[in-house]
Amino acid sequence: MKKTQSKARAGEGLYLILISVHGLIRASNLELGRDADTGGQTLYVVELARALARHPEVGRVDLLTRRVEDARVAKDYAVPEEDLGNGARIVRLECGPRRYLHKERLWPHLDCYADNALDHIRRVGLRPDVIHGHYADAGYVATRLSNLLGVPMLHTGHSLGRVKRERLLANGMKEADIEARYNISWRIQAEEEALAHAHRVIASTQQEVEDQYSTYHNYHPSRMVVVPPGTDLSRFRPARRGEGKPPIWSEFARFLERPERPLIMALSRADERKNIRGLLEAYAGSPWLREHANLLIIAGNRDDIAELEKGARDVMIDLLLRIDRHDLHGKVAYPKHHQSDDVPDLYRLVATSRGVFVNPALTEPFGLTLIEAAASGAPIVATNDGGPKEIISRCHNGLLVDPLDPPGIARAIETILGDRAQWRRYAEQGLKGVREHYSWEGHAAQYIRLIKKLGREVKRTRREQRSVSGRLADVDRAVFTDIDNTLIGDPGALKSFLAWLRRHRKQVAFGVATGRRLDSAQEALERHGVPAPDVWITSVGTEINYGAEATPDKGWERHISHRWEPERLRDLLAQQMKLILQPDVDQRPFKLSFFVDPEEFEGVPAIERLLYQADLHARVIHSHGMFLDVLPVRASKGLAVRYIADKWAIPLQQVLVAGDSGNDEDMLRGRLLGVVVGNHHPELDKLRGFERIYFSEAMHARGILEAVEYFDILNRCDVPAERRGMHQR
Ligand code: GLC
Ligand code: MG
Repeated sequence: MKKTQSKARAGEGLYLILISVHGLIRASNLELGRDADTGGQTLYVVELARALARHPEVGRVDLLTRRVEDARVAKDYAVPEEDLGNGARIVRLECGPRRYLHKERLWPHLDCYADNALDHIRRVGLRPDVIHGHYADAGYVATRLSNLLGVPMLHTGHSLGRVKRERLLANGMKEADIEARYNISWRIQAEEEALAHAHRVIASTQQEVEDQYSTYHNYHPSRMVVVPPGTDLSRFRPARRGEGKPPIWSEFARFLERPERPLIMALSRADERKNIRGLLEAYAGSPWLREHANLLIIAGNRDDIAELEKGARDVMIDLLLRIDRHDLHGKVAYPKHHQSDDVPDLYRLVATSRGVFVNPALTEPFGLTLIEAAASGAPIVATNDGGPKEIISRCHNGLLVDPLDPPGIARAIETILGDRAQWRRYAEQGLKGVREHYSWEGHAAQYIRLIKKLGREVKRTRREQRSVSGRLADVDRAVFTDIDNTLIGDPGALKSFLAWLRRHRKQVAFGVATGRRLDSAQEALERHGVPAPDVWITSVGTEINYGAEATPDKGWERHISHRWEPERLRDLLAQQMKLILQPDVDQRPFKLSFFVDPEEFEGVPAIERLLYQADLHARVIHSHGMFLDVLPVRASKGLAVRYIADKWAIPLQQVLVAGDSGNDEDMLRGRLLGVVVGNHHPELDKLRGFERIYFSEAMHARGILEAVEYFDILNRCDVPAERRGMHQR
């Protein structure tokens, strides 16, 4: 394995970036099931990172997650980097406040997170071969990074917002409550974007593709590939001869009168949908099972049921009531605690007791636990749904049941436990099937073939290394400002700003970022006596030029041309009654612009839906309530500013950006320092409360000066110390 490490150091081999933002991720002893954010996904990404790193063609794998510093969780999650072996590592980056936050609360911080990720990648100094987002939040981040760096993106949804919303609605929850509790439309929006942008979506089962992803506007089955996750076969393995009783044994044996009897085990979070109740009723209703087997329920960890979250608490209380009602004392074990390292031991105990593993969940798109049980030599009984169906059809290692039919569940378990030859056949077939179909090695091999194919598909737009000269190369801070209603609009304010700029021009780069065309921006600045900036970002970020000569940045054009189909876009959008094409002079090679009637306009998502349905890729920006710009996905003012900061090695956190309206929004969000001037359009009010975005009292260019002072751009160049960590959001 030394070989791959030196390969990584030399920058050889593939460089893969996996992103999984929420939850708690560490190299060992994952706290699976601690809460709703620490489910199977956390294990999946760690094992995927390890498996990929073991592949001979891979040099380095970075698993990016959120750094958490919080007395309520272990210190491990605050460590910036943790080794996973063979060139793989966990990299923890800041995402909003330091404390542990539920995933629903992370949305406002993801722009910053993406910038931190960009910083990390720059420090590594290698160009990633793929950016792979896991779940909606990381999908959002991966989309941004993939656009910025021009590298292929993979996406894995893990679970989907639309499916969740449907389920909650079906359970009688109100739309508004779902929104308040889960921020679900934010999530769905991010999912749509990730599905639109990803070059491939990786699903675990065919059913996931057909039943779940199909509910999205961006359902493109041709870009979806089914690659089931692997199982760590060194952890999940049959018991060895003479292996003693593991530590977890005494934890549950004390519940049982006859602990040596076959174990019927279920293992899941204490969640209504896992249907532990169905299994308990099956057991309670079968005199034969009660006589010949014990029931072992591993349902998360708890100190005190009264202190669990409501959902888990209800499940546990219901369970205890039923055990008592059916008088199952001495036959059912439900230990309070287990560690993730106990889990393989538990499966092995099921196998050595000649028991059976049961997954009775109401729905089961995948069923990782079934594969782990099979890898340990235990036959399985599981819900007749997509995941289990695929597993059993590949491995022939158990029976499918209707989760709402307890007598049927009982019969299936009886069939297996009552026939020793059948039990053995299932156990052996499970072991063999898992090795064949669910090993990480096989998964990684398929994954790498895919990456190499994508690498050829996605034209490389690596930027030529410009010979670094001039002011941009010398400075370590910059001010970028919008022109109309920000830089200009008040002659007196502009005069003061220009005076400041003149004094500090050696120290600070100066750029404009505008919706105007280059010639019109030049004309406007000239008319107002503004000297030529170092950087011109024009036509809403689709064009970049430098200095008085306005030398074009050809690399940017090449970079943003990706997936840009202006004719098709124009054909589609020009038919929309509510959109009126702006005059020809405002149409640019990489910018299609419309006027919208503020009364009639249904919002950007409605336009995006149209694009999604036509499988067109574009960024849609609404500003001043009346303009609608359609740009390549890789272009915007914000992306252009980041491109420049990257190219000229100006730290992003030392770039001040100023704006007043919608097309400034994406450059204001994130690691940059932002100022929204006093005379801004109300569409920017949603940015209030972000630590790094300052709302100035002063209007126009005086607002920029106010921010220069607030952030102390010439010295500290940061959020004032007393305001740091005061995130309102
Ligand atoms: C400028 C451009 C126009 C664009 C608007 C908003 O006014 O001329 O085409 O739609 O900015 O970005
Ligand atoms: Mg403006």
